[in-house]
Amino acid sequence: MGIGKANRLARIFRPSTGRAVMLALDHGMALGPITGLEKPAGVISLLAPYADSLMATKGVFNHCYTPDGRAGIVLRASGATTIVGPDLTAETLTATIDEALMLSADAMATSIFVGTDNERDSIENLAALAGDCAPYGMPILAVTAVGKDREKQFDAKYLGLACRVAAEHGADMVKTYFTPESFEHVTGCCPVPIIIAGGPKMGTEEDVFRVARAALDQGAMGIDMGRNVWQNPNPVGMMKALAAIVHEGASVADAVAILNEVR
Ligand code: R5P
Repeated sequence: MGIGKANRLARIFRPSTGRAVMLALDHGMALGPITGLEKPAGVISLLAPYADSLMATKGVFNHCYTPDGRAGIVLRASGATTIVGPDLTAETLTATIDEALMLSADAMATSIFVGTDNERDSIENLAALAGDCAPYGMPILAVTAVGKDREKQFDAKYLGLACRVAAEHGADMVKTYFTPESFEHVTGCCPVPIIIAGGPKMGTEEDVFRVARAALDQGAMGIDMGRNVWQNPNPVGMMKALAAIVHEGASVADAVAILNEVR
């Protein structure tokens, strides 16, 4: 691996632990002003100090982010569909390598929708982006997205297939959902690091910590959560607790204690 790519990945996977706390803030591109992320600038200034990297669109980085040279930048590079449109999975590429370089991005992210009518187009997007990024040492994060088909989110066989397909088409890291069933198979059969999304807000904070702990114990290399952080009334507590799970090996009970210290 070249120095440029290695250096960028080191701003995503903290060198002292090899693990990543990425804060997901890209939801507005398809969902508009979703609850908790109505004003991205405030969320970023509050939570960025606790994240290794931030994942957002060019619009958010250009208008809602104050550069401080600290957190890594993961530029969402696919989209152009919305939740009210005919098909959320019909994405196209929405950012270029030049835009990523202008932003001093550390990675570009694109979704793949395996098993949908747009499977081929979305995987082509990934492969093309990987080709564009390779000469610059720009890492690619593939997001194994499920569109509106939430059933797939818990299917280890589907997730294992999607993650492996992502790696085979040029992803340097893959974001997927955690499933309690056979997640080791998902991580074990993917040759690049896996980080997990949180998905819709869970019932309790403990549920979120359980998912993060179990995913890491089964081979995940980090988290890329959004709603379960910034839709929580104590988002700073959530970030601190999740960072302790990821980087310090904290247990679920430890995480609950950290959360309660911040209240
Ligand atoms: C999904 O395509 C988006 O990339 C989100 O960033 C991702 O779902 C993670 O956010 P959350 O933890 O809210 O699911």
